[in-house]
Amino acid sequence: MKKNDLTWSDLVALASRLDDNDALGDFKTLFYRGDPDEIYLDGNSLGRLPLESQRRLEDIVEYQWGSGLIRSWGAHWYDAPTRIGDQLAGLIGAHPGEVIIADSTTINLFKLVISALMIHPDRKEVLSDVLNFPTDLYTIRGALAMLNRGHTLVLLESKDGIRISLSDYQHALNENTALVTISTPTFKSGFLHDIALMTRLAHEAGALVLWDFSHAVGVIPLDVDGWDVDFAVGCTYKYLNGGPGSPAFLYVNQKHIAKIGHQPIGWWGHRTPFTFDLAYQPADSIRRTLSGTPSILSMLPIEFGVDLVQKAGIERIREKSKGLGSLFIRAFDHRLAGLGYQLGSPREAGQRGGHVSIQHPEAYRIYQALTQELKLIPDFREPDNIRLGFAPLYTSFEDVLEAVTRLARVIEDRIYEKYTLQRAKVT
Ligand SMILES: Cc1ncc(COP(=O)(O)O)c(C=O)c1O
Repeated sequence: MKKNDLTWSDLVALASRLDDNDALGDFKTLFYRGDPDEIYLDGNSLGRLPLESQRRLEDIVEYQWGSGLIRSWGAHWYDAPTRIGDQLAGLIGAHPGEVIIADSTTINLFKLVISALMIHPDRKEVLSDVLNFPTDLYTIRGALAMLNRGHTLVLLESKDGIRISLSDYQHALNENTALVTISTPTFKSGFLHDIALMTRLAHEAGALVLWDFSHAVGVIPLDVDGWDVDFAVGCTYKYLNGGPGSPAFLYVNQKHIAKIGHQPIGWWGHRTPFTFDLAYQPADSIRRTLSGTPSILSMLPIEFGVDLVQKAGIERIREKSKGLGSLFIRAFDHRLAGLGYQLGSPREAGQRGGHVSIQHPEAYRIYQALTQELKLIPDFREPDNIRLGFAPLYTSFEDVLEAVTRLARVIEDRIYEKYTLQRAKVT
């Protein structure tokens, strides 16, 4: 077993000191908590329920929907996609007017891939990597097939399944690259690309850049305008705690808004939707990226989730996130490395997002035992990854060590052996 210089009781003392000095420690009281013994490490997939969202949703349903009915469109709802977009813009370093809340990440990505390729009609390559989230790759391929203008998708390989090398990326960029589109941090390994540098290199090659920040927004400070990012999308139900299926965000750099010609076009992107013109005239603003009627009840809680992140401060969130991951890795070396687990994420905190993956040949049975019996909720990603998301607003350093203890116990007491290899519909 690989040991570091600290004993387990040193680690326990360290965790307790870190919790005592944690400026974000009280934020956990602002979230709904069911079983107090349950450790929830899946906030990178579906964030916890903010108590404010629970309370406000009851009012919204009763007063805005129940009493206000159709009048609430004008009074509360019509501007919600841009109002919440402007609020979220502050978190990612965008200007007001560059972000909107709409549809899913998948749909927004599709809209922006089409738009980007229409801006650069003579270039025929789209560059991405094999650590991208599957929906992104399906969407890119679907968009290229629909355009049918001879584009190809170039996918960079990963040597270790954890990272993508920057030099491979540099070599792949060329005068035919129209668009670079990548997810960061990556959904399995949590690898954080060098966003600023990669954006600059892509621009030097004359390409546009579209980032999927689903695993970054709310846990990593972003500076999209400072880095001159062209486009970005991302989920709001992870670290922003927007709720299951809450609509995604879409960012377009101001300089491109007038050039957006996405599909599917719809009446909500029209300059004046309520004149019901038969001819489409796109809005001059980011609203042109809308297609159909926004999902209001799913969208409104994003405001309360973003509010919590703003109150906590994204820099403090990132610092705590790095600390949680680093403590986990120290405890992993101490307690788990000898039990058949392998680290599936970068060790360096600066190269990692908010989650850490560990791998084990029995990962699926371990995952079932943890969730069904040991009150530890991570998620499982094929073929052998257990993903542990340390959402800084409601995860303590003590939680991290307790999670390690349960991950050890499930092997040492052979608890996983009771469970089947038969995959559930959702993991
Ligand atoms: C990186 C990334 N991109 C896209 C998606 C898909 O988002 P949606 O289902 O909202 O389209 C996910 C979902 O987890 C994701 O992690």
